[in-house]
Amino acid sequence: MHAETTATERKAAALAAFKDLARDPGVPKPDPILVVDNVVRRFGGLTAVEVEHVEVQRGSITALIGPNGAGKTTFFNQLTGFDTADSGQWTFNGRSMNGVPAHKVARAGMVRTFQLTKALSKLTVLENMRLGAQGQKGESFWRALLPAFWKGQEDAITERADELLTRFKLDAKRGDFAGSLSGGQRKLLEMARALMVEPELVMLDEPMAGVNPALTQSLLGHVKDLREQGMTVLFVEHDMDMVRDISDWVIVMAQGHVIAEGPPETIMSDERVIDAYLGAHHDAPLSESELEEQLHEAEAALEAEIEEETQK
Ligand SMILES: Nc1ncnc2c1ncn2[C@@H]1O[C@H](COP(=O)(O)OP(=O)(O)OP(=O)(O)O)[C@@H](O)[C@H]1O
Ligand SMILES: [Mg+2]
Repeated sequence: MHAETTATERKAAALAAFKDLARDPGVPKPDPILVVDNVVRRFGGLTAVEVEHVEVQRGSITALIGPNGAGKTTFFNQLTGFDTADSGQWTFNGRSMNGVPAHKVARAGMVRTFQLTKALSKLTVLENMRLGAQGQKGESFWRALLPAFWKGQEDAITERADELLTRFKLDAKRGDFAGSLSGGQRKLLEMARALMVEPELVMLDEPMAGVNPALTQSLLGHVKDLREQGMTVLFVEHDMDMVRDISDWVIVMAQGHVIAEGPPETIMSDERVIDAYLGAHHDAPLSESELEEQLHEAEAALEAEIEEETQK
């Protein structure tokens, strides 16, 4: 009962922070945990990201949406030190973060997950979790470091890992190779692993993509839990049903820019957002049933392909 009250209060506090905010790109928030200025990332002639200003409200669940290729993942990569911005500054909790490498960003309390899950398949679930405690870095780094790292293993890390695995209902898989997990279980593992550093800001890149419907609700519940536990969540998602279900505020990107912000209930009727999705020749974000239909189509196509292959 007490936990429920807290959850309601946190949601209410987040919504209160957004009440009466202008729907303009870059609108200042009452208590931002992340403040971004003039972040630019170019790939040759293509400007993938050009964000003038954006703020993420502490304690909120904020969705980052936008057509394919809008620059959402690239933006995440800049902020979390997985790629180097051509220019720009950003602060996390008032601390400047540009140029800080990924594992240090993570240890400072700002973690992200990947659109394509990065669970190391030849390591066990528990080993993946332990690596999470060190923040995130390239696989080659871990390979080089593994032997020394395991020797210095601390019980506290294992204990925290086990706690999280239980919370995410992965405790039974503890000793299994991450490679043997289903897509949805990998997403859960990645979220659990991100929590090893006890972050304040969790950035999720399409946490629900490719997850079967049975696990979707569980994942959504875990995202809501993060806020209940006092964390701030910024997540990328195409499915508007999910965005409406869990987010307090929506930031919209198109062609590298933040083009609009607003509440989840009304954001899709914003002219600028409609234009952006039409202009990108991209269908409007999918509803749950549309998504399912597309999945079935893709599965059927794949099955047909396999059948054709085996008949050769
Ligand atoms: N390493 C790279 N080299 C060259 N171009 C890139 C690279 N990474 C991304 N891009 C380009 O930058 C643009 C933004 O890509 P990004 O993946 O950030 O979009 P997104 O909003 O995450 O899209 P989606 O919703 O499909 O995941 C795209 O045009 C993409 O092709
Ligand atoms: Mg992306």
